[in-house]
Amino acid sequence: MKDKTNLPYVEATIMEVLRRADIAPIALPHTYTHDVQFRGHTFPKGVLVILMLDSVLQDPDMWGDPGNFRPDRFLDDTGKIVKKEEFIPFSLGRRACLGESMARMELFLFLITMIQRFKFIPVDGQKPS
Ligand code: HEM
Repeated sequence: MKDKTNLPYVEATIMEVLRRADIAPIALPHTYTHDVQFRGHTFPKGVLVILMLDSVLQDPDMWGDPGNFRPDRFLDDTGKIVKKEEFIPFSLGRRACLGESMARMELFLFLITMIQRFKFIPVDGQKPS
């Protein structure tokens, strides 16, 4: 894990997988404890609220080409990780995913170990898409 900060492209690749693969397209159901006004809409106390994380992670206005797998969108000109507030695969706020740091650590260890120990080749000469 101490190598992680020296491997920003690996980190950016994992971030792009989390953005593009979108394994939790919606967050868990939540509610409001009081009436809330937001952008001209009234959300009454007790209403069911389901955040569509997908609508942010795949937003063309934010990402430009959300359908493309492009890890370098998370890197600046010097190769350092750029934090974007729209990167919300673990949701946001007080009830965001409790397992985020563990999940990100495991993804790093699994990916890096597989890259070190295996050779990845396309199926029957097919080009990777
Ligand atoms: C890539 C892996 C993971 C993704 C993308 C993910 C994503 C999410 C999302 C979107 C939520 C809903 C948050 C909300 O309702 O606003 C959530 C909740 C939660 N996740 Fe994860 N999760 C991952 C892995 C894990 C792991 C490994 C654990 C535990 C070891 C975990 C524990 C939890 C818990 C306990 C909640 C409920 C939090 C609460 O309601 O306060 N998650 N996760």
